[in-house]
Amino acid sequence: MSDHVLRAYDSILDLLPSAENPTPIVRLRRIPSYRHTQVYAKLEWYNPFGAVKDRVAANLVRDAEARGERLENLVEPTSGNTGMGLAMLSNAKGYKFAATISKEIPSEKRTALRFFGANLFELDDNLCPMPGQPEGAMAKATELAAQPGWRQLNQYKNPANPDAHYRTTGPEIWKQTGGKITHFVASLGTCGTITGTGRFLKTQNPAVKVIGVHPADGHDIPGVRSLRALRLTDFFTPAEYDGLLEIGDAETYGHCLRLNQEESIIAGPSSGLALAGALQSIPDEPGNLAVVIFPDNVFKYISSLQRHLPQLFPKPASAAVPATPNDPFAPYLQAAFAFAEHGPDVIDVHAAHELLAAGVPVIDVRNPDEFAQARIAEARNLPLPELSQGRTDGLPTDRHAPVMTICARGRRSLYALLLLKARGYQDVKSVAGGMHAWGDSGLPTQSGR
Ligand SMILES: Cc1ncc(COP(=O)(O)O)c(C=O)c1O
Repeated sequence: MSDHVLRAYDSILDLLPSAENPTPIVRLRRIPSYRHTQVYAKLEWYNPFGAVKDRVAANLVRDAEARGERLENLVEPTSGNTGMGLAMLSNAKGYKFAATISKEIPSEKRTALRFFGANLFELDDNLCPMPGQPEGAMAKATELAAQPGWRQLNQYKNPANPDAHYRTTGPEIWKQTGGKITHFVASLGTCGTITGTGRFLKTQNPAVKVIGVHPADGHDIPGVRSLRALRLTDFFTPAEYDGLLEIGDAETYGHCLRLNQEESIIAGPSSGLALAGALQSIPDEPGNLAVVIFPDNVFKYISSLQRHLPQLFPKPASAAVPATPNDPFAPYLQAAFAFAEHGPDVIDVHAAHELLAAGVPVIDVRNPDEFAQARIAEARNLPLPELSQGRTDGLPTDRHAPVMTICARGRRSLYALLLLKARGYQDVKSVAGGMHAWGDSGLPTQSGR
């Protein structure tokens, strides 16, 4: 007996959402300053495995099973939440599941995936897996899926992704608002949510406005993609949307904090992004009723909060790491790293580009293979291990002369900065976001040794 009124269930899978068992929508009473427009948040962490992507995971599996496919070993590239849904469905159904995932994904999510029983392949990739990365999550999943008995359901290409939202999210919202919805807002990753839900709502009322919100290039918001990345995304169909907005990291994390502190809604970063976009784009008019998708709660994103809301963490976050038994001084080194990370010597790619134009040398501290794949034409390669052993190739002879360091994401270059400062270089800058941010900003790169 599964009963949605009593909320008594025979199986965890009966909790998957539908128009009869929707995730809640809740009116936001404090943050919106509208007189007329009503704003509702749809709280997707009420899904059985914790996020909006449970809908997609369930529909990918349902669709493959309905076509009579024998599923044994599933593999999926994921920014975390689809993987968690697939891991739990696999547990329930007796399948094995492997996730290919970027090392940039919050460690909370990678830990949860292991805990849910997924076999994890951690790779160098963007926050949201991207095509065209030979060492990335998508390429690895394709390689694994080529083995006999393995299957990649592929949320990025499989129409069962948007279809999940066409079948569930859309009908739920239509019913929950009594057909009064005028604006639908979603953050954009694979675009399954916006495209599937938007299509359904427009079949009910073509006047419903469908609005997509995305972050800027080089962003730090898990689960979503910048416009540059969206252009490579199959289910990104902007001709079907009525508006697209870019929201920065600061505004995203600011709204996320306000949702928790002012609305008592435990929303995560991509909910803050979507809400900020909704409030910027929806006019204050009688009859307006907006529904904004809140994909996930905040608990898997604590490490992101520590980076973006440093005022909440008076001590550098990493200073709290306990000393290892071998090295009681390790926390001090970590604290130095954390101070440097938030200090004035970390610059963004645009400032770095200006310094480069002014003739400041740039030392790329990645390994030679990474350097050969895509690099700044003027950069000299001095891998971090060699730099730490005292090599000086490419460094200015005058230790007062300016020099920049860069790596893939900005972590190794920060260690290089500390090493160089310790060796007496006075004017060292590290490039935040590294070559990923450089490429994302459209700045020129070249390949080859
Ligand atoms: C936390 C979070 N927010 C937003 C999204 C974007 O949803 P979609 O892939 O349907 O565009 C995702 C997708 O994985 C996500 O995990």
